[in-house]
Amino acid sequence: MTSAPRPVFDSPAGGAEFEPVASVADLTEGTILQRVRPSGDAVCLVRYKGEISALSDICTHQHFSMSLGDLLEDGTLQCAWHGARYDCRSGEVKQVPAAAPLPVFQVRLEGDTILVGPRCERIDGKYEASTVRVP
Ligand code: FES
Repeated sequence: MTSAPRPVFDSPAGGAEFEPVASVADLTEGTILQRVRPSGDAVCLVRYKGEISALSDICTHQHFSMSLGDLLEDGTLQCAWHGARYDCRSGEVKQVPAAAPLPVFQVRLEGDTILVGPRCERIDGKYEASTVRVP
């Protein structure tokens, strides 16, 4: 008897609407922060070199929370469990054991409020980047 293949993980597409998740003051330079959207999806907010991005908080390797990992100086987000690394803007895999990119969500600012929208389009091994510069 053969076992069924493990399903390929992909996070939800996110709502069609932009949802407020945090204020800029909650996310200092060089840090990451978990927020749960009103729709229930967990996102990992990243502030790197003055720009904010929002990625899925669920590692594509074995679903560990990315916000428990580290943002490294080269702009990669490292999972705390097995060390997979992803580009913090495009979700592209930069270090195994992850094989699939980390989904990226559209992000925008309204005043001091960070809003997260639908998932960006996946292009080959990464997602279209969406960042907003902190004024
Ligand atoms: S769960 Fe993230 S690297 Fe394994």
